[in-house]
Amino acid sequence: MVEASTLDLGKLDGPVLVFGGPYSNLQATEAMIAKAGHLGIPPERIICTGDIVAYAGDPAATTDAIMDWGVVTVMGNCEESFGAEADDCGCGFDEGTECDVMSRQWYAYANAQLTPAHRAWMRQLPGRVEFQLGRRRFAVVHGSAVSINEFVFEKTDDDIKRESLDRLGVDAVIGGHSGVPFTQILEGRLWLNAGVIGMPANDMTPRVWYALLTPADGGLELSLCSLDYDHVSAARTMRARKLPEGYAGCLESGLWPNMDVMPPGEREKAGKPIQTSSFLWPDAVPAAAD
Ligand SMILES: [Fe+2]
Repeated sequence: MVEASTLDLGKLDGPVLVFGGPYSNLQATEAMIAKAGHLGIPPERIICTGDIVAYAGDPAATTDAIMDWGVVTVMGNCEESFGAEADDCGCGFDEGTECDVMSRQWYAYANAQLTPAHRAWMRQLPGRVEFQLGRRRFAVVHGSAVSINEFVFEKTDDDIKRESLDRLGVDAVIGGHSGVPFTQILEGRLWLNAGVIGMPANDMTPRVWYALLTPADGGLELSLCSLDYDHVSAARTMRARKLPEGYAGCLESGLWPNMDVMPPGEREKAGKPIQTSSFLWPDAVPAAAD
């Protein structure tokens, strides 16, 4: 394993907004920018978990929008691949699966649109971002501490999450890549996936997702929030550009074209609308002195 470069943001002093996977979806990206402005959160406290360019119709314009916005961005496997001018997206799809076949189509399309400046920007992105919020120390990675393209879902074995928490030595890991939002407390530590804005969460709604981390009395308030955007226009753009119908249709139906990358327990959640949620993650209680 190559050790990822780390950007340490230090101690942040207000709400942090986290989102993942713009996936070349310009309409969703513009909606996220507008929502952050409405919430009054500056780019220094906004973190993207990577995969700016993927399935949807506007790879160059979406990259330009993220670059111009100036949010903190973790390198995803897509940035790693496009930056290196690799032959494929490096998503970790098994060969011959539907995702693998469709990825060849969208990757070739996006690869033809990106400029040398886009690729140079992608190459300099950190593989890991760390920060402190309240009394908690966070690390943000794209997949896991082990691999940039490891799929970590809520129903993924907890030991996979503990391994990343242990390796990174933090109170919380924020991951991306897998595309479904969740929060999970593991013996007082946290795994959080903010979800993605570029594709729905396989819950039969076209909504996309982001997370808010807000300092509060006694801990941090963790919120998973949905975002509505012009998904009809985004799907229309994909079809006009002859991109895979499986993903264009997903923008409207909210259902993924397949669930090859999901563990069995995760597949059972398909089609069930995800609820927005918010809870207080309490500060760790110091061990009592003997
Ligand atoms: Fe990814």
